[in-house]
Amino acid sequence: MDPRKNPYAPGAGTPPPELAGRDELIERAAIALDRIRTARAARSLILHGLRGVGKTVLLNRIESEAEARGFAGVRVEAPEERSLPALLIPVLRVALLRLDRGKRIRANLARAGRALAGFAKALKVKYKDIEVSTDFEPERGLADSGDLDTDLSDLLAAVGTAAREYHTAVVLFVDELQYVPEDQLASLIRALHSTSQRQLPITMLAAGLPQLIGQMGRAKSYAERLFEFVEIDRLNEGAARAALIVPARKEGARFDENAIEEILSQTQGYPYFLQEWGRHSWNIAESSPILPAHARRATKLALAELDAGFFRVRFDRLTPTEKRYLRAMAEFGPGPHRSGDIAEGLGKKVTSVAPVRNELIAKGMIYSPAHGDTAFTVPLFDGFMKRITP
Ligand SMILES: Nc1ncnc2c1ncn2[C@@H]1O[C@H](COP(=O)(O)OP(=O)(O)OP(=O)(O)O)[C@@H](O)[C@H]1O
Ligand SMILES: [Mg+2]
Repeated sequence: MDPRKNPYAPGAGTPPPELAGRDELIERAAIALDRIRTARAARSLILHGLRGVGKTVLLNRIESEAEARGFAGVRVEAPEERSLPALLIPVLRVALLRLDRGKRIRANLARAGRALAGFAKALKVKYKDIEVSTDFEPERGLADSGDLDTDLSDLLAAVGTAAREYHTAVVLFVDELQYVPEDQLASLIRALHSTSQRQLPITMLAAGLPQLIGQMGRAKSYAERLFEFVEIDRLNEGAARAALIVPARKEGARFDENAIEEILSQTQGYPYFLQEWGRHSWNIAESSPILPAHARRATKLALAELDAGFFRVRFDRLTPTEKRYLRAMAEFGPGPHRSGDIAEGLGKKVTSVAPVRNELIAKGMIYSPAHGDTAFTVPLFDGFMKRITP
């Protein structure tokens, strides 16, 4: 069918033509944010899940709806190897500018600006990647001690106080939160805990890989009381069907039931894979309906493409030892697996492979769903490992 009209949208953070199966969550997030804005007790959300399950698009949707309701939302993506202060300074600056929007600067906003300036200046020695913003002059004694823990608490409190003055809330939408180093994550949680106790309208709504839960738990034991941890999983059957059928229907096309079955069984309802299979099936079929033969051909093409792209880019970041570890893991199937079994598969002791396992966790390739267990963060990666090193 006409590739120009192909509605499917595979890609990292690419908005899907139909955001299926997430309505209840979007509403839950909206309720939490609205309550925080009006100083009512609520827990913001931490969305965690495997690669390609749709965390980023969900975060973006929650953000754009919050902005439509007048929130001062700012977007942060935590890359590997960047300090938290360096990430936060520019976005908090944006948050303050957004609060200001056309109105005359009020006292608390100016104070938050000074806190930001002091924060940036004091931490610049320790975190070399900070670029100082120059809108305001620092105020002595305000968020400028040079200790991240206390300064961040002061700063977020000052920003929250300014937000309250404008009857809104500042929301930090943080993607890939697992990349924030654990000590800095602890400071952030502590700062948010203190603003939450003071009922200030500032919070974080974040997304990341499953290892986040452990990291946050270790970082601060009260994270669980501050945030609701929500697992973003593959789509259930109804939602997976909708993700395929609705976009086609809008273009006047449909799927044969058996073609749907083929795609559901291949993709296992993982959103990113549904988009890939949808896109290929559409391009392969000459006309509607999309038939089982088209879907089967799509499986071949999609897997070849994933092997060359989605899976391959991750594979290429691995050292030979890491590859061997993942290959041994793949032998046992999708997982989770006992770490002891994987070590045994390698003919090694658990303790001697622990460093490799830690490296792989740090790279976001695997995580530990429970003590002593290991699982892939990338769905269907076991199949790929077997194809690439038979
Ligand atoms: N609910 C959904 N319904 C249909 N398609 C979806 C849904 N959620 C996400 N997708 C599609 O899945 C793909 C991956 O989404 P996204 O980038 O948000 O995943 P992610 O969880 O952030 O992945 P990563 O961990 O790699 O960052 C995109 O192509 C997106 O359009
Ligand atoms: Mg993402």
